[in-house]
Amino acid sequence: MSMLQGKKIVLGVTGCIAVYKAAELVRQLVKLGADVHIVMTESALQFMAPLTFQTLTGNPVITELFKLYEERTIGHITMAQRGDLLVVAPATANIIGKAANGIADDMLSTVLLATRRPVLFAPAMNEGMWDNPVTQRNVSSLKAIGRHFVDPGCGDLACGDHGMGRLADISDIVDEIEGMLSPTDFMGTTALVTAGPTQEFIDPVRFISNPSSGKMGYAIARALRHRGAEVVLVSGPTTLTAPRGVQVVQVLSAQEMAAAVDKHFPAADVIIKSAAVADYRPRVVAMHKVKKRDGTPTSLDLESTTDILADLGKKKGSRILVGFAAETQDMLANARVKLEQKNLDLIVANDVGGSESVFGSDMNKVTLLLPGGDCVDVPAMNKQDLAHRILDCVAGIRKKQGDIPDEPA
Ligand SMILES: Cc1cc2nc3c(=O)[nH]c(=O)nc-3n(C[C@H](O)[C@H](O)[C@H](O)COP(=O)(O)O)c2cc1C
Repeated sequence: MSMLQGKKIVLGVTGCIAVYKAAELVRQLVKLGADVHIVMTESALQFMAPLTFQTLTGNPVITELFKLYEERTIGHITMAQRGDLLVVAPATANIIGKAANGIADDMLSTVLLATRRPVLFAPAMNEGMWDNPVTQRNVSSLKAIGRHFVDPGCGDLACGDHGMGRLADISDIVDEIEGMLSPTDFMGTTALVTAGPTQEFIDPVRFISNPSSGKMGYAIARALRHRGAEVVLVSGPTTLTAPRGVQVVQVLSAQEMAAAVDKHFPAADVIIKSAAVADYRPRVVAMHKVKKRDGTPTSLDLESTTDILADLGKKKGSRILVGFAAETQDMLANARVKLEQKNLDLIVANDVGGSESVFGSDMNKVTLLLPGGDCVDVPAMNKQDLAHRILDCVAGIRKKQGDIPDEPA
């Protein structure tokens, strides 16, 4: 279940060209299960009719401070306390200035002053307005009192200029909202996650690999970040975008992955190894492309790669170590052997032999196995939700163990 499921979000929309992008933001929030209530400023109404937002949210759009029927329940106070979160996107220089200085002269600025809920601003404006020391001072004042920002990006601006001030990508705004609505049970934790396949080269243009997309590991890294952890993600080659706020270390081979894991392991309290690391690599890598005209090779001489998970199991101390078992037969039996032999605290068993491929899919169905025989079947769900289910289980293990990591081995 998405972190946004059933959450009430009050979205303030202010007057600038980027108002149309707020419609896409609303669409995504609603899709993730949020109940969105819109407050539009008078200027915003110049750029878009409220009907669009009303249709997308299924809720009436609030535009006026002094509306008789709303004032029976003191509308601005109701709105201020209604949401789990208040978001202003796009946020003009004007609303940021008003919020920073306690001005409450319309519905949105009054709600912003009255609320005790977390507040997120996603500014959008011309570069001159954004760079202006007055705007920067207002942003700093709001950050100092704990208001969150998704800073604008660089690009073509509606005024024809190119520079800073473009509304952040909607996916980044949604990501920040998900983080703000997630539990903070991994705050103060350093986590090391691995994801994706490795590539073991035969010659400069050919390699042995597997179809792992890295989606599961990226989803775990993202969920850990949302729940407050500092995250290092060691990633094999994927086409995925790095999760915001996560340190990504790109590697190609199992050997490079082992070296990167070794480097970041000492500082980690939690290690989740979801990468599909090659078990074998060619013993000799040809220096030049093996030519077809030289004939078909009849064999490929392989050697074992480092068993990263087993190595970590030997030196983990009281760190939590989570492994994945991708199996095509005897899933539970094989996963339990791996759990015990590699000294893991949890193994996520994945049946990858079915007709529907787990590789590359957004969905996954797993069984969580714990030492001592406990076992939880997790129904099919998207990988982001599953990441949170796995972290719930890790949080439970940490609680039982007292949560204090050993000195690095
Ligand atoms: C065509 C047009 C585009 C505008 N774009 C922006 C903008 O991107 N960012 C901004 O801060 N103000 C922009 N403004 C100015 C705001 O609309 C103006 O400051 C207004 O008072 C904001 O009111 P509000 O914050 O209550 O919505 C624009 C104005 C016009 C006429």
